[in-house]
Amino acid sequence: MTDQIDLTSDLIGPNLTGEEGEPARIQSSSPAFGDVLARRFGRRAFIGGAAALAAAGPLTGFLAPRDAQAGEPLPALNFRAVPNSSADRIVVAEGYTATPFIPWGTPLTGNYPAYKDGGLNTGEEQEQQVGMHHDGMHFFPLKAGASDHGLLCVNHEYIDQRVLLPHGPTYENGVRTVEDELRKELAAHGVSVIEIRRDAKGGWSLERSRYNRRITAATPMELTGPVRGSDHVKTRYSPDGTKARGTIANCSRGYTPWNSYLTCEENWSGYFFSTDEDMPREHTRYGVLKERGRYGWGTYSGVDVYDRFNASTRGATAAEDYRNEPNTFGWVVEIDPFDPTSTPLKRTALGRFAHECVAIPDAVAGQPIVAYMADDTQFEYLYKFVSARPFDPQGDNRDLLEDGRLYAARFNADGSGEWLALVFGENGLTPQNGFADQADVLVNTRLAADFVGATPMDRPEWVTIHPATGTVYATLTNNTARDTPNAANPRAANPYGHIIRWDETGAHHTGEAFTWDIFVLAGPENDSRVMTADGPRPLTKDNMFSSPDGLWFDAAGILWIETDGNETGGHDALLAAEPLSGEIRRFLTGVAGCEMTGLAGTPDRRTLFCNVQHPGNNDPAGSSFPDGPGRRPRSTTLVVARNDGGTVGTDRRDVKPAS
Ligand code: FEO
Ligand code: CA
Ligand code: CA
Ligand code: CA
Repeated sequence: MTDQIDLTSDLIGPNLTGEEGEPARIQSSSPAFGDVLARRFGRRAFIGGAAALAAAGPLTGFLAPRDAQAGEPLPALNFRAVPNSSADRIVVAEGYTATPFIPWGTPLTGNYPAYKDGGLNTGEEQEQQVGMHHDGMHFFPLKAGASDHGLLCVNHEYIDQRVLLPHGPTYENGVRTVEDELRKELAAHGVSVIEIRRDAKGGWSLERSRYNRRITAATPMELTGPVRGSDHVKTRYSPDGTKARGTIANCSRGYTPWNSYLTCEENWSGYFFSTDEDMPREHTRYGVLKERGRYGWGTYSGVDVYDRFNASTRGATAAEDYRNEPNTFGWVVEIDPFDPTSTPLKRTALGRFAHECVAIPDAVAGQPIVAYMADDTQFEYLYKFVSARPFDPQGDNRDLLEDGRLYAARFNADGSGEWLALVFGENGLTPQNGFADQADVLVNTRLAADFVGATPMDRPEWVTIHPATGTVYATLTNNTARDTPNAANPRAANPYGHIIRWDETGAHHTGEAFTWDIFVLAGPENDSRVMTADGPRPLTKDNMFSSPDGLWFDAAGILWIETDGNETGGHDALLAAEPLSGEIRRFLTGVAGCEMTGLAGTPDRRTLFCNVQHPGNNDPAGSSFPDGPGRRPRSTTLVVARNDGGTVGTDRRDVKPAS
């Protein structure tokens, strides 16, 4: 297969064949889409092709209104596309305004120390300010359903030392020597919990609040689930393997039906180094470095909170050094934003990998909670967790993520798929094959998924669930290292990425089988395809994009797409899609060197939050966003609103589960 996509062929991805191995019976594009829909919505008694879509009862609630004369669907999106842009300013669709909010360094807690340009704040001040490199986030209303007042939880994925510190990091002979630099670097990581309020004009402000909180790379945490107390996580800090310190590489996020925030530890492995001749398999499989580590924290010996990033064997036992410290990272961390004194909980039952994102379908009384997850590294996997205990609307659900079954996805070429259990004693995950118990399976999640034959993907990033149909969508951002395509990752050297989607065949997302197809192959006009109501179409100048990363359905069923890579020109962007019609438009373009990431909204859909991460990434002098000329660039949230106060992106009403 070449990486040029034949736009005249039928489906993207699965090579659908008829019964008894007959060649694909799908010849023209429209019937092909009809078949895909029939497959996708079959369990909801969907019959016929695209033309019947509007007539299908369960689907009409969220279809675009139709022009009675022409019978044509009206656009779902209420804005005109913006062109690609290379300006160092935010460009948003006409009729909308995007306002910077809570940039890195904003005073948040304690003495509320003012931000100083030039990297001049101290480590102690940074501990009381909003962190750097904003990523995944979520808005929690303070009263159920309220849109004017809530808690915004924001991840701070990593740092740019050139921007954070006055003159970058200080090294002498390869060793970090200035403690306050490290204190500031750890404090700029983690999560901010921020009480915010909207005024009558739609503007937002930060409240000086008891809820405001910084969780950093040094905050005490508890390990929970099967790995808690195991030999894998015994350290000098926690000789009984029950505690961990801090969270790092907090990329995307999740949120639970019981209103806790989930932060995902993604590219944590490079923070550590080990000089051991024979590193254990868990360190090599995840990419612990052989020297220094990403920011050199482990070179600062003598102070435990930094020294622990040196994972070399130094003591007589694991309880005397930090050989196991990397095993306390790579988890999903659960935070109760409504209790600022709560201890964050590392949920080991959800597996250990480069956790990008968690997406939890609506809870159903008496059914388990399900969580979809992605491992963002080339050739890694998509995962699903099903809780052991059911959701009880009247009960205490706070520990549902402590215990359950973990699965990795296999995508078959015929459009079917299976969830392969990563459970000790099943699928060959036994001592004979090198897995000692469930803690061992979880610490080595990637090895377990390798072993059971999951499908290696093109860097899975965000996952989101259509609010009405339950179809799960996931971004596969790109994979330039792929030379052997598979059906679900159909391009060799995939430079542009794609968005895959699947429907579970079991009830409430708890089954072990699904059907899938590819919604969009990103790329330029001559090498892209989106599945529209009229069959596959190339992307156009109004919606071409590459490296899809952030992905989130709002309550109206609009799919918001953010990019981290701009191979199709201009800066990274935010686009909106109606995935059933295939309509996609570019909504907002970012600034020089930034990635667009993080998506959250208020229940009334009148405010959309998104993040401008690392402006000036390639060259800090290349962007002065948002403060203007002569000032250092700062990662920031954007408040996006319609100038007339209407709903963002679409005029449609909320959609409801088809049930
Ligand atoms: Fe942190 Fe995979 O993005
Ligand atoms: Ca990402
Ligand atoms: Ca990315
Ligand atoms: Ca990034």
